[in-house]
Amino acid sequence: MKAVFVPRYGPPEVIEFREVPLPSPGAGELRIRVLAAAVTAGDWRLRSGLMPRGFGPLRGVALGFGGPRKGILGTDAAGVIDAVGSGVSRFQVGDPVLAFPGFAMGSHAEFLVMRANGCVAPKPAHLSFEDAVALPFGGMTALDFLRRGKVKAGERVLVNGASGNVGAAAVQISKHLGAHVTAVCSSNNADLVGSLGADEVIDYTRCDFAAGKESYDVVLDCVGNAPYPRVKRVLKPHGRLLALLADLSTLLGAAFVGGKDSHRVIAGPASERAVDLMTITELAEQGKFRPVIDQRFPFERMVDAYRVVDSGRKKGSVIVWLDPRASLHQ
Ligand SMILES: NC(=O)c1ccc[n+]([C@@H]2O[C@H](COP(=O)([O-])OP(=O)(O)OC[C@H]3O[C@@H](n4cnc5c(N)ncnc54)[C@H](OP(=O)(O)O)[C@@H]3O)[C@@H](O)[C@H]2O)c1
Repeated sequence: MKAVFVPRYGPPEVIEFREVPLPSPGAGELRIRVLAAAVTAGDWRLRSGLMPRGFGPLRGVALGFGGPRKGILGTDAAGVIDAVGSGVSRFQVGDPVLAFPGFAMGSHAEFLVMRANGCVAPKPAHLSFEDAVALPFGGMTALDFLRRGKVKAGERVLVNGASGNVGAAAVQISKHLGAHVTAVCSSNNADLVGSLGADEVIDYTRCDFAAGKESYDVVLDCVGNAPYPRVKRVLKPHGRLLALLADLSTLLGAAFVGGKDSHRVIAGPASERAVDLMTITELAEQGKFRPVIDQRFPFERMVDAYRVVDSGRKKGSVIVWLDPRASLHQ
């Protein structure tokens, strides 16, 4: 099968298209013919090898020495089940599915093998494969952090980086939870985040939310420029900072935050739970979570797809399609 291989850390141009052996599903596994895949900030991290500040010396152990441990990246896939191993009853050959291999990676290839009881869910019927594949990375991450932050109805949530993949999901899921949402983005993306349900929008190029008069129960930082010392004064008592992109000092310091305001800092990797993928597909089916796609490329233009991701300016997701059926619903 054809796959995009990352032989070493570097810019988009390091990738190679390779023929690799077709994987076979074992007991309890299924094989998906991938019709569409997302190219995410997670793929960018593993391909570039760039680490948050302070984590550089740990790169080899965390991601792999010289290059990513898994040469085939790709956190999200939408496709059709093409083979099942013994003992699989949940899915059948021909089922349209959405899969989130997550940190295990592997969706930048024509076929992907997953555990049948892992992060695999029926594809929402009203979405094409390439639209559906824009959901998991942002949705799974936002759902996990908002849950760890115990976001409740009526609370004020600020999403910093609201126009990105995770931010766009966080705006929608926070609204679903009944929160009042303030989205921080540039003026170009104000209409987008408003259409996703944001109650208020702050243009970061004109206004520093951390210097404003408003205060928030939860600040979700998808950009990495809002460490606790910066946002402390705009967190309400018992407020939570959800730091998606924590550097080493934020991560280590999280345990020591608290004090008279009872603040909390929540950081670290998002969990990858099969039940969360089901929740996300259900929210999509109910019209409460819709995909946001910046650009779509044929698989052969993976370098161009990566260039958009590397810019750090994409709106929502970047998608690659491996088969013309990716634009279909079935
Ligand atoms: N902890 C975890 O488990 C976990 C999981 C997933 C992702 N992450 C991390 O979360 C981060 C966000 O991921 P993502 O996929 O959402 O990224 P993304 O889609 O690449 O984010 C791009 C967006 O960020 C906006 N942006 C850039 N600078 C900004 C600023 N100063 N203020 C406000 N918005 C700004 C851009 O808007 P403009 O063009 O308007 O600037 C763009 O729309 C990544 O660093 C990723 O590594 C962590």
